[in-house]
Amino acid sequence: MESDIPAGQRVVSGMRPTGRLHLGHYHGVIKNWVKLQHSQECFFFVADWHALTTHYSETDGLEDHVWEMVVDWLACGVSPGASTLFVQSQVPEHAELHLLLSMFTPLSWLERVPSYKEMQEQTDRDLATYGFLGYPLLQAADILMYKAQLVPVGEDQAAHVEFTREVARRFNHLYGQEEGFAKRAESLIDRLGRNEARLYREYRRRFQEKGDSQALEVAREMLRGQQSISLGDLQRLDGYLEGEWRMILPEPAEYLTTAPKVPGVDGRKMSKSYNNTLGLREEPDVIQKKLMGMMTDPARKRRSDPGDPEKCPVWDLHKIYSDPQTLEWVEEGCRSAGIGCTDCKRRLLDAMVAELDPIRASAAEYLSDRAGVNALIHEGCEAARDVARDTLEDVSEAMGLDYA
Ligand code: TRP
Ligand code: SF4
Repeated sequence: MESDIPAGQRVVSGMRPTGRLHLGHYHGVIKNWVKLQHSQECFFFVADWHALTTHYSETDGLEDHVWEMVVDWLACGVSPGASTLFVQSQVPEHAELHLLLSMFTPLSWLERVPSYKEMQEQTDRDLATYGFLGYPLLQAADILMYKAQLVPVGEDQAAHVEFTREVARRFNHLYGQEEGFAKRAESLIDRLGRNEARLYREYRRRFQEKGDSQALEVAREMLRGQQSISLGDLQRLDGYLEGEWRMILPEPAEYLTTAPKVPGVDGRKMSKSYNNTLGLREEPDVIQKKLMGMMTDPARKRRSDPGDPEKCPVWDLHKIYSDPQTLEWVEEGCRSAGIGCTDCKRRLLDAMVAELDPIRASAAEYLSDRAGVNALIHEGCEAARDVARDTLEDVSEAMGLDYA
């Protein structure tokens, strides 16, 4: 699916600040952001309030974690020139939207989100809080605030994006209805211009009669290209494609990315909580030490035992970092016991260090320029707030709160 998304879509994604990133974050998320930022209109942010929903009593390290994570993003090539980078808590409009959405979000929807029960069962932290229950709604506010069309997330977050769609739909049903809607929409169509009007009606019919969602997409694309039309009327035409209400908050889609498998040194998924990570910024000698102790195919007890790369986590890392010749050398040498695991790991180390060196160097530069980085973030927050204020104005008007 990666190549067939049209350019210029609104993309929003956030990451909880857990401090310095590891290779799992890098290959799973950040590389993908770096790619998307060039073709899409991207908003990337530090979800620091989300960190509080689970770690409300450990706020001491928070500032550091935010800082270290932003430095890592920049060092990896997430660019403030190509995307909007910000910190959630510095765009307090997120809290206002969260509050407004909370008024009509059924408790049962929140209790039903799979991560709610799962996380409570998996940890001995106190998660019986209002904030933790509201986690997905805060995330919905993050996404709807920017009227995002696409949310790049891992599989584990798909339920949150689905929940966001439900919240958007409920909002539009509740606040997007008005008297004489259909008549108004029809007269708006007539004003689109002959060709567009014909196409709009054709796409609408194709969607409503045959459920053709492609037609819906094309019609939306066409509407976005319309120049002399007010936002409210655009929302009417957008909503009329599907039903009889204004589409004030568009429903976002999740963008599931195909990330390579990144095992930690013990062979399990790389994760801070397993204490098995390879840090993005770790010095070569630290990486070396960790790699040399990394688990291999358990069947290869002695140097003379042949092994099977498919049963070895070191191989998964080779597939990420090594060139085809090296991969062949590993496959052949491992299966025939022609190479030892130390030889194999040394080659991997060389390839990894070559890719990590420039990232570490770049991070060092950002680390020494705290004021510069803060200025970048400040600018990103201001840009995000401009968009956020527009959305809130829109939302307040729809909810009848624009009397101030
Ligand atoms: N919940 C996400 C995670 O744990 C982080 C997040 C917060 C997010 N708000 C978001 C991701 C909005 C995408 C869009 O990874
Ligand atoms: Fe793993 Fe390489 Fe050893 Fe084979 S030779 S078991 S791939 S480390």
